[in-house]
Amino acid sequence: MKLILKIIFFTTVFFGVFFACQNEIKNENQIIKKDTTHLCQVQLSNDELWQAPDTSEIKDDEEGKAIKYGKQLVLNTAFYIGPNGIVGKYTGNFMNCTNCHLKAGTVLYGFNFSSTHARYPQYRSRENKILSLAQRVNNCIERPHIGKPLPIESKEMTAIICYIKWVGQNSKVNQHIKGDSPIELEFPDVAADPLNGEKIYKRECQSCHGPDGEGKIRKDNVCYEYPPLWGLKSYPPGSSIHRLVKAATFIYCNMPYEKATYNKPVLTREEAFDVAAFINDDRIHKRPQNKGTINYPNIRTKPIDYGFGPYIDTFPEVQHKFGPFKPIVEWRIKRGLPTKF
Ligand code: HEC
Ligand code: HEC
Repeated sequence: MKLILKIIFFTTVFFGVFFACQNEIKNENQIIKKDTTHLCQVQLSNDELWQAPDTSEIKDDEEGKAIKYGKQLVLNTAFYIGPNGIVGKYTGNFMNCTNCHLKAGTVLYGFNFSSTHARYPQYRSRENKILSLAQRVNNCIERPHIGKPLPIESKEMTAIICYIKWVGQNSKVNQHIKGDSPIELEFPDVAADPLNGEKIYKRECQSCHGPDGEGKIRKDNVCYEYPPLWGLKSYPPGSSIHRLVKAATFIYCNMPYEKATYNKPVLTREEAFDVAAFINDDRIHKRPQNKGTINYPNIRTKPIDYGFGPYIDTFPEVQHKFGPFKPIVEWRIKRGLPTKF
């Protein structure tokens, strides 16, 4: 009897330890697996995900017509207001808003307009002023589109604002929605490496964006099938997407196009930073001149990854451009300065 009890006791202990170990290994594997699939840090449950409203619900009244026209302007910007635009020549390149504000500003972590209308007028550090939504739209027309501002009272500006308001109809005043801002990735410990970025570019991006980043113009010559990433026909320095963190987080969640999503990215965090550094390295690539850009009169609120000094800290310009960003963030936290832009 004693022997049987002993056997039962030892067997239980043995299997207990065995399964506990298995469990630990399993957990460890899960953790490792999590890392290698590069899951985004923001975990959202399905019912929390924002979705754009259904276009079929747009009414046929005057406002509805403006909303529909606004959507067309976001999708086919160059056709309407590009260098050969049928209603006026405002933007200076053939890019469309939707090239960056993916699917007319409806993609999570794809520069969407889910809460934009609800957050304007807003203090903007670049101007150190309060900007209306129309003024913010004109910022994108002046840069990245190297254009001249749309008149605030124009039918086109009204339409764009009506559309942005319609997309964000369920948002609350002054509040963010998950996925409306670039995804928050942990910064790599080392500076981004443009040379490694070039390798990644050739492997993952060149097939669409071209060997020289020039993109591919559509057959009808109106706009791009694949927009340019650098060169004189692309966006100028000082555009938000010329900043490393903005570009890297966008690329991480959305590129290669139709393959990557925020919850199933293709590139690793480091790869996204490296390829963004390659694209936005002005020592390697030309860009159009950016005349008369207002550049953060209050340097306390200049974004950490804005590539042009002066800065409030003593970190060199090259570090603000390529990282490592962690020391800059720590420096700012110690002094109570903002770290997110
Ligand atoms: C080359 C890329 C690019 C193009 C083209 C572009 N934008 Fe932007 N736009 C950006 C980036 C990057 C931001 C900053 C987004 C952020 O920080 O979350 C931005 C921000 C905005 C915002 C403020 C969004 C918010 O929620 O605060 C508006 C409005 C906007 N763009 C409108 C437009 C319109 C309208 C067009 C076309 C006329 C356009 N943009 C073209 C890249 C672009
Ligand atoms: C399968 C084709 C394809 C591949 C591969 C691809 N892209 Fe794109 N990319 C697009 C398209 C199309 C758009 C514009 C989306 C739209 O207009 O709806 C775009 C837009 C962009 C933009 C914003 C617009 C601009 O011109 O600046 C960036 C930045 C970008 N891609 C970077 C990359 C990077 C980096 C890679 C490689 C990691 C990559 N893309 C791979 C098709 C592609």
